Order: sequence, then structure tokens, then C-alpha cells
Amino acid sequence: MIILGIETSCDDTSAAVVENGINVLSSVVSSQLKIHKKYGGIVPELASRHHLENINFVIEKAMQNAKCKMQDINAVAVTVGPGLIGSLLVGTTTAQAISNILKIPIVGINHIEGHIFANFLTTNHEPRTTNFKPPFIALIVSGGHTDLIKVMGFGKYKILGRTRDDAVGEIFDKIAKFLELGYPGGPIIDKFAKKGDSKKINFPRPYMPDTWDFSFSGLKTAVINYTREHKNTRTRERLYDLCASFQQSCADVLVRKTVLACKKFNIKKIILGGGVSANSLLRSDFIKKCDEENIKLFMPAAIFCTDNAAMIASAGYFKLKRRRICKAINPVRTRRFLNGVNPSANLELSNW
Ligand code: KG4
Ligand code: ZN
Repeated sequence: MIILGIETSCDDTSAAVVENGINVLSSVVSSQLKIHKKYGGIVPELASRHHLENINFVIEKAMQNAKCKMQDINAVAVTVGPGLIGSLLVGTTTAQAISNILKIPIVGINHIEGHIFANFLTTNHEPRTTNFKPPFIALIVSGGHTDLIKVMGFGKYKILGRTRDDAVGEIFDKIAKFLELGYPGGPIIDKFAKKGDSKKINFPRPYMPDTWDFSFSGLKTAVINYTREHKNTRTRERLYDLCASFQQSCADVLVRKTVLACKKFNIKKIILGGGVSANSLLRSDFIKKCDEENIKLFMPAAIFCTDNAAMIASAGYFKLKRRRICKAINPVRTRRFLNGVNPSANLELSNW
């Protein structure tokens, strides 16, 4: 089964063609980075306008790269939330049009759920693993989310905790903005941290032991205060140490809480997802800790950590397979489908 995935929930216009939920025939991501860079964050109105300008081209390119014709597509999967409403609507109305014209099923996917399924994706026809079966503890860390999730089955999720303030990726971006390093901050801080010493500055670890929730805004304030206090002695080395020390604080908290959740719920598998799961320190710390604790760890390939439509197509495939939706849908159902587009879509209600 060949699925066209469409993802426009935030600032990346993406389309992908995925076979049987696993094999990525093409994945095109048109980044709006240049547009939002000068504002140090995403401007929603600009994002939706650029999605509108790019979406047709991105889909055509995905079809070309996959060497597919529109008639080869069996279904279309699209992100219905959470995300920016204007951005979501560009993707969902496009998907609706394709579904109506080709008379193929359409399936709405929760964006966080998509990040979970990024773990299935491969570009070389080989399944990444045969062992990718729930239950898992999933940690989805991105610019918009820091969610610790108990995955009991596909389509059966329990949010254990989430951030009470900023998402961890947002903290990377805000600190990088404050330090005038560029946007998005995650990859830059990741790179600088490799040259620094993470033991040089002792930033707080917001473990919040009484809850599965997270809170990173205090850590952000600590980094900003430290920078202000040392502004007269700002050197390249100190900047590298600061990036390394800040990143270590984030990784310590994320790894510890995720492993604790495994112990508490007696689950022996962890899956990561979201842009921050591309972070090299986070990945290596998780590998070390999971080895020690005899926990099986799944991480998406680095290119599928950040937002992409292939992960949406993958989730769509497994959801359609579960529901056995094979018949073409009619316009009434499509209208109902669009009513389901929700900027704050709740993963726990994404019942299959
Ligand atoms: O998943 P994603 O593309 O979009 C959302 O759903 O939010 O994640 C983007 C976020 C940004 O905050 C970016 O700074 C962060 O992921 N990110 C990273 C790295 N690569 C991207 N954070 C830390 N280390 C990285 N290597
Ligand atoms: Zn995302």
C-alpha cells in the first residue's frame, strides 16, 4: 500500500511517499527557516502563507522523487493537530482535495503520534527492526513538545507528563537567540557543545521528582543569568562550556525521567522522537543508560527526527490497516474529517 503523507503543522511544508508504512520512497521537506530566522521564532501568519505557496510544488516533487503517478497512491495521510491552525488547514484542505479527486481514503494523524512512527522509517527497504512493538515509554522532544508517553498499543496512549512551561527544543532556541547564535538553536548548541566541557558550569537539573511533568524555564533563566553575570569575560571557550553544560542538564533530566518511567511501569522499551532526539549527547546518553538498565532503545534516523511527512504516512498506514478502511470516502465524511482539525489535538483521543 502506497501512502502520500502531508505535514504542515508548523513551519515545514512536507510531503512524502511511503510504502507499507516503512519504506520511504521519497521525503521532501521545504523549510521556512530563512523566513522566520530574522524573527528568532515562527510567525504563524507567514508560516501559513508560505505553506500555501509551496504545498503543490512539494507534493509534485515527492511524487517525482518516488517515481510515482497520482494513480499509484492508495491513501493520503495528513496531520490534523496539534499545530498552528492556519498551517494545519493548508495541509488538510490539500489532502481533502486529493482524496476527493482520486477517490482514495484520507486519514488524520496526530503530529506527536507521527513522531512515534518515525521509528519505523527506512530508506533501504530493510525493516529497521522486527522488535518495534508496544508497550513502550515514548519521549517526544521537539520545539513544541516535551511529552513522556506510555504507549500501550498503537493508537492507545497515556500521557504521563509534559512540560509545564517551555518545550525543551524551545529552550534550545531561546537560549541560542539570547546568545545570538542563530535559529534554530538546537543543532548549533549541539555543535558548540562538542567543543566544550559539560562539567565547567553547574546548571540546575529540574528533575521535579514528584511528577512526570517537566519544567525547563528555570534552567533557561539560570543560563541567561550566568551569561549576564559573565558578560565581561565572554570568550569562545566559555561559550562552548556553557552550551555543553546546559545541554548536559537537559539530557540528565530527560534520560533519568524516561528510565524511571520504564521502571515504574515495568516496560523494557524506550522510543525517542522529535527534533531534539537528533541531539548527539541525548542519543549517546540514552544509549549508555539503556545498555546499563537492559532497556531496548529505538531512535529515528536523524533525518526523521525533525518534522517530516514520511512519519505521518507511516502512522497513516498502520491506522488504516487497523481500521480496514479500503473504500473511497464521500464528501460528507470529508467535511466531518475537516471538523476534526484541531490546533490542540489530544493524543490520548487519537483512538484507533
Ligand atoms: O520536531 P521538530 O522539527 O518540530 C516540532 O514539532 O517542534 O523540532 C524542532 C526543534 C527545534 O526546537 C530545534 O532547535 C530542535 O528541534 N532540534 C535540536 C536538534 N535538532 C533540532 N535540538 C537539540 N539538538 C539538535 N541536534
Ligand atoms: Zn514535530
